[in-house]
Amino acid sequence: MAAVNAPNMNVMIRAAEKAGRSLVRDFGEVENLQVSVKGPGDFVSAADKRSEKIIFEELKKAKPGYSFLMEESGRIEGEDKDHVWVVDPLDGTTNFLHGLPHWCISIALVDKGEVTLGLIYDPIKDDLFTAERGKGAFHRRRRLRVSGRRNFPMTAIATGAPMRTIQEAGPQFIKEYNAIQELGAGMRRFGAAALDLAYVASGKYDGFWERNLKPWDVAAGILLVKEAGGFVCDLDKDSNDALKTGNILAANEYIYNDMKKVLRK
Ligand code: IPD
Ligand code: CA
Ligand code: CA
Repeated sequence: MAAVNAPNMNVMIRAAEKAGRSLVRDFGEVENLQVSVKGPGDFVSAADKRSEKIIFEELKKAKPGYSFLMEESGRIEGEDKDHVWVVDPLDGTTNFLHGLPHWCISIALVDKGEVTLGLIYDPIKDDLFTAERGKGAFHRRRRLRVSGRRNFPMTAIATGAPMRTIQEAGPQFIKEYNAIQELGAGMRRFGAAALDLAYVASGKYDGFWERNLKPWDVAAGILLVKEAGGFVCDLDKDSNDALKTGNILAANEYIYNDMKKVLRK
């Protein structure tokens, strides 16, 4: 966290920590449901909605006029259409469902189309990543910096292949995956896109790419990576459109151009 947080960031942290406590409680239950015939599917979808409701109520209480774009409830217009909270109440649902402790909450504040505040919170590890436009990215009070690794054989590069589009996106994904692997990179596929971006910002991963993501998957992460000194673009063209298209490349400055070249071939 920055020395002094923006007031809206304090609101976001409060909302994420409260929703995080609710998700951690539910995550404990999920383990018991694995062996049931029905499995934990419905329970997880209720946990996801509970998290969204908590975040919505906390943010709304602090800023009654702001608008929302949330994964479960969609767009909710407030009187103030310039300010939009973009919320993924549970990113990494499949991990959560399987009892895998790698999932998070992502909240961003978008002001006239520009992400000004971003937060990604992993309540299991109590990892809180925050970024404020022009003021840097932080893990609690520690300033974040993307990695300095330049050689692909030294790197860890993350990606994701969303299951619902694998039929359509499969061949392209496999081509891209092979192209990056041929550079000698260590590949990772952890299943929570927002955390993938937070890990690029933290210098754990050196790069990340994925297609067909949604604004709530990437809004906070884009700001985190940029504020940590990394580069972000749309996968297919040099633009700031990754928030809109959901096709994203994020990396440190040394491998960014090579990744871009190889992925666009
Ligand atoms: C998913 C995760 C996953 C990514 C998918 C997303 P969800 O979000 O971020 O890593 O590959 O495309 O939909 O559904 O768990 O919120
Ligand atoms: Ca989600
Ligand atoms: Ca998501």
